[in-house]
Amino acid sequence: MLIPRLHPGECQVWWARPLTGAGPDAALLDPIERGRAESYRRDADRARFTVAAGLLRLVAGAHLGVEPRAVEINRACPDCDRPHGRPTLPADGWECSISHSGDRVAVAIGRTGPLGVDVEEVSDHPDLAPMVLGPGESGDLVTYWVRKEAVLKATGEGLRVGLTEILVSPPDAVPALVRAHRADLPARTTLRTLSPGDGYRACLAALDTPGLAVTELQAG
Ligand SMILES: CC(C)(COP(=O)(O)OP(=O)(O)OC[C@H]1O[C@@H](n2cnc3c(N)ncnc32)[C@H](O)[C@@H]1OP(=O)(O)O)[C@@H](O)C(=O)NCCC(=O)NCCS
Repeated sequence: MLIPRLHPGECQVWWARPLTGAGPDAALLDPIERGRAESYRRDADRARFTVAAGLLRLVAGAHLGVEPRAVEINRACPDCDRPHGRPTLPADGWECSISHSGDRVAVAIGRTGPLGVDVEEVSDHPDLAPMVLGPGESGDLVTYWVRKEAVLKATGEGLRVGLTEILVSPPDAVPALVRAHRADLPARTTLRTLSPGDGYRACLAALDTPGLAVTELQAG
């Protein structure tokens, strides 16, 4: 896999198909990650986790000049002792984010401000509208969802903050954070629509990186 060099302010989003493609296997994972992989009862969940963790190791290792297995990825959770929190890299100025849904894995990595990536498979979710849409928001639910979740992954808060607490631009408009639970966030946040392929929506959020350049690449 050819991994192009990255420059400050640039982010790569790597795509993989964990269910139908050839992706990294469990041999790349560290013992804690292997333990997590083995704890999944459903094959599809195990495959999504394994491919995402392995892909992050491959890409981060190449950028940092470290063997993939030796990259120190911290996944501490601030709420419990399980290693399922936001992944952070040991090198100053490097940020990353992971998302998986259906047959898609996205790994974002960059020399940027904090990153959040989110991919969701499009399906019929009408019952979720009250949990996603804020005042005045209507249209493609999954586009709102990925824009909002990407923001909350970039801040590291995740779903500790309700998706209805932030407002984003409508699906047919340039993606932007319109209003947030913290007044400073809209001006600090850049959103980019990603291209996960038919049947999926995806978005990348970056904090404090106004000239963000995004390159999407296929792994394998
Ligand atoms: C972050 C979060 C929104 C992702 O949920 P999701 O839509 O089911 O899953 P995605 O595939 O898009 O993202 C999962 C990835 O988000 C990352 N992640 C986990 N917590 C995160 C956080 N607080 N901020 C940013 N990224 C986070 C992990 O890399 C995870 O990948 P992994 O499961 O392979 O380790 C959700 O896990 C969350 O809100 N977590 C924080 C709240 C929480 O539940 N804490 C646990 C208390 S014990």
